[in-house]
Amino acid sequence: MSAPATDFVPPMPTPAWRPPTALGGLLRARRDVLSIFPADAYRRQVMTTRLPGRLILVANTPEVVRDVFVTKHAIYQRKSRFLEDALRPVIGGSSFIAWGDDWTAKRAAISPPIHPSGIAQFHPWYLQAAEETVEDFARAEGPVDVAAAFATGITRVLLLSVFGPYVAREEAAIIAETFTAYQDAAEVVDLFGLLGLPDMLGWLTRRRAGHLARALRGRVARLLDATGPDGGTPLLAALRASLSGEALLDEVVMFLLAGSEGAAITLTWTAMLAAMHPATADRMAEELPAAPPAFADLPGFTFTRAVIQESMRLYPPVAVFARQALKPDRIRRWDVREGDIVLAVPWLLHRHEQLWEAPHAFRPERFLGDAPRQRPRFAYLPFGIGPRICAGAAFGMAEVSVFAAILFRRFRFALAPGFTPRPNCRLALRPKGGMRLVITPR
Ligand code: HEM
Repeated sequence: MSAPATDFVPPMPTPAWRPPTALGGLLRARRDVLSIFPADAYRRQVMTTRLPGRLILVANTPEVVRDVFVTKHAIYQRKSRFLEDALRPVIGGSSFIAWGDDWTAKRAAISPPIHPSGIAQFHPWYLQAAEETVEDFARAEGPVDVAAAFATGITRVLLLSVFGPYVAREEAAIIAETFTAYQDAAEVVDLFGLLGLPDMLGWLTRRRAGHLARALRGRVARLLDATGPDGGTPLLAALRASLSGEALLDEVVMFLLAGSEGAAITLTWTAMLAAMHPATADRMAEELPAAPPAFADLPGFTFTRAVIQESMRLYPPVAVFARQALKPDRIRRWDVREGDIVLAVPWLLHRHEQLWEAPHAFRPERFLGDAPRQRPRFAYLPFGIGPRICAGAAFGMAEVSVFAAILFRRFRFALAPGFTPRPNCRLALRPKGGMRLVITPR
């Protein structure tokens, strides 16, 4: 791959100038997980931090990541207790955070309705929600927070896919806004829990987060009730075939959130890249059709797909995967005890100096032609890894492609005057304070 004459390096946090102390790192991680990594984290193979009674180990090479997340899935299949606690108020015990036999059964229930072979059935919903987003953009006066707009647009896709066309359009914005507020309120890193202390300060945030979680679940429960036992789409019918009651509600809420979060964030960062690198935006617009794309057209948009993939490399929506060991183990020279935390950090792997040339530079060419086959398989993990890999990867890639094909053909994007994008990783890698862009028709 030849290096472009001038590389464009999009926004990233300034690396910490030295490794933080364990406590200092935790305090910073509470606000933004990415802010704790020093410059050498982009070179190291394994990193560890010891807290009283707990080891935190970062697997930072494709080989160690495969060893932990694929080969030793039986030991490392459980997500971290902190992620479970952060998400349970909203998604209950759904497949996203279940483990053991419970996870196996739930994963088996939710996978068939979103299997890659059946994704074309959702194409009309992708088109409808994308066209509604076009209407919103065309009506906007002044800069638009595209993070909020895409969260609404993609939540709309999921609502249409689960409940069908009769669900009110306003539901999407309300659900997306409530989940954003929940993420702001929820504690992502349970500092006190990690140190083995009772949490005396977190009750206020927990109370607010709990209120938002109940509001979200209540809304979705009402939609389920209104749909009735025989209503909704084939997707909902397939879920009802193996789930009922709270377990069904858990999985439907999870679908609405897991199914929209990654895709909306991907579109947000891709729109920022298009705004900051107009030559890329023009090249995408050239390959995209004026008419709404057919499902069969999507694989033909090779450059646009490469831009989306490069966007997910630089800004992986799930930037940290956390697991807790179910049994004692040994990773390289470190003894891992039951309950210790092992992380894979796509944010670091995707920018690792040994895996990527000019790792912080925006180069969609990395995903064209033969280039991806030259890299180690587990260097690029936007959809996760191993048996717990994203169940909706094909669905997610298709919805993002349809939105991109329509929006990047019809509009130009530019950063709003005075606005600086700032990546911020809490539950997911969102832009802090949104993504304010000026949108004009092409
Ligand atoms: C661009 C879009 C998407 C991205 C980037 C994405 C990313 C991910 C990642 C990284 C994981 C694994 C997290 C971990 O191992 O800790 C995951 C899990 C999951 N995703 Fe997605 N996702 C996307 C779209 C979707 C969609 C559309 C659905 C459903 C319709 C979905 C459903 C799930 C489920 C159910 C899991 C849990 C799988 C398990 O633990 O067995 N995702 N996703």
